[in-house]
Amino acid sequence: MVCLGNICRSPMADGILRKKIQDRGLDMKVDSAGTAAYHVGEAPDRRMRRTGIDNNVPIDDLRARQFVVQDFDRFDVIFAMDKSNYNNILSLARDEDDVQKVKMMLNESNPGQNLEVPDPYYGGDEGFQNVYNMLDIAVDAFLERVNG
Ligand code: 4NP
Repeated sequence: MVCLGNICRSPMADGILRKKIQDRGLDMKVDSAGTAAYHVGEAPDRRMRRTGIDNNVPIDDLRARQFVVQDFDRFDVIFAMDKSNYNNILSLARDEDDVQKVKMMLNESNPGQNLEVPDPYYGGDEGFQNVYNMLDIAVDAFLERVNG
């Protein structure tokens, strides 16, 4: 799960997917990262942590890191939250295999539309619940697609 800062959207997506995997007894490896390094080592944004707790998906223990080219080797699917993240990840791709791994997260719930998870960082508190709701639906659609 990849966004810009790895303190709002991608840690929430990471937490939601981890929780659903655990609840369903599945075996998948999940992690998140940011394309930028501004917040490396930080916990998720306080407002996103609050939203996680409110929705029973705590993400307080996650710490931000930057996306690295080795992530193409460690993961089968790389989800970008918006088009800017998508293009930044693609700029690091080494070959066609890497390119094929990169997907827009909301294309799981809204195929082919290339919709973006809006960056809630500079907005109001309602933006965080909105992000949660979008990710919850998209992650369900992803698990349905890959696990039935
Ligand atoms: P995120 O949100 O990409 O969802 O983690 C942001 C967090 C921090 C900044 C931008 C977006 N920032 O500019 O510091």
